[in-house]
Amino acid sequence: MALYSEKVMDHFRNPRNVGEIPDADGIGEVGNARCGDIMKIYLKIKDGIIEDVKFNTFGCGSAIASSSMATELIKGKPLSQALELTNKAVAEALDGLPAHKMHCSVLAEEAIRAAIKDYYDKNGIEYDKSLFPEPDEDHEIHED
Ligand code: FES
Repeated sequence: MALYSEKVMDHFRNPRNVGEIPDADGIGEVGNARCGDIMKIYLKIKDGIIEDVKFNTFGCGSAIASSSMATELIKGKPLSQALELTNKAVAEALDGLPAHKMHCSVLAEEAIRAAIKDYYDKNGIEYDKSLFPEPDEDHEIHED
């Protein structure tokens, strides 16, 4: 069996929503200290809905495919739904990632949360702090 699904290869070769949003409402940047990969997510938000999302990922193929898929999953969705997006859901939408590549999908989950937190902070919006655990502390990597 191929190591990577067709979907992973497709999103790696033709990533969706690549780039920046110059007047983004929220920006999240996260990295993985072990592999050194970095992911940045830009959100345009209106009335609690993610109107546009773009990403820049300096990382491996799985990280690029994960960011691409994650942006597709949250575009047009309410913030509450984007906050519920888990790395596992991203990996499932890609028809799976090899176990040693699951951490790449974690970057996508964390970058989206960081961008939403940035939006809340910039706009003085109250939020439940437990929704935003410090990456690499309380964060669990869901591997299946
Ligand atoms: Fe680091 Fe994929 S190897 S994000």
